[in-house]
Amino acid sequence: MPLLQVAKLGEPILRQTSQLVNLIALNSPDGKIQLLIDNMIDTMREEGGVGLAAPQVFQSLRLVVIECLSSERYSEAPDIPLTVLVNPSIKHYGVDTALGWEGCLSLKDLRGLVPRSKKITVEYFDREGNPITVNAEGFLAVVLQHEIDHLHGKVFLDRMTDFSQLAYIEEFEKYIANKETVESGSI
Ligand code: NI
Repeated sequence: MPLLQVAKLGEPILRQTSQLVNLIALNSPDGKIQLLIDNMIDTMREEGGVGLAAPQVFQSLRLVVIECLSSERYSEAPDIPLTVLVNPSIKHYGVDTALGWEGCLSLKDLRGLVPRSKKITVEYFDREGNPITVNAEGFLAVVLQHEIDHLHGKVFLDRMTDFSQLAYIEEFEKYIANKETVESGSI
């Protein structure tokens, strides 16, 4: 599978609102969207991310892949099985929020402390076009909020409330990661 180029912050597509995926095209015989999904999964794994949104690979589509396996370097984070989300939308945000450290393949060298809702409800379609509703909490809720933000032209910096809590990864690991138990990775 060819790996896809990852858009870095500053690319205009990262600031655009993505288009809905046509559910008929999702399973069209030409297989174009299915191939894109496969290539996004490979790219996410190769880049060591726990999620990837289509705008990050220069496709303005409402498409997200996520996966977190405990064998990888996010040892503090719970497992998230490989999930493909087509046209995801957050239907409910819980009022309680928590702060967590986030990274992003499009801002690869940065880590920032971001407030997110602890619990959310997400509706989406799987890659076969079946409608799914998921009530997510904890790390899964954070990953989903981060990735769905990409579909609205947002990155984690936009959600930060305290920019003193922004660091390059080398300094983050030197001063912060070793001193507290944190969940962190390139979402
Ligand atoms: Ni990201």
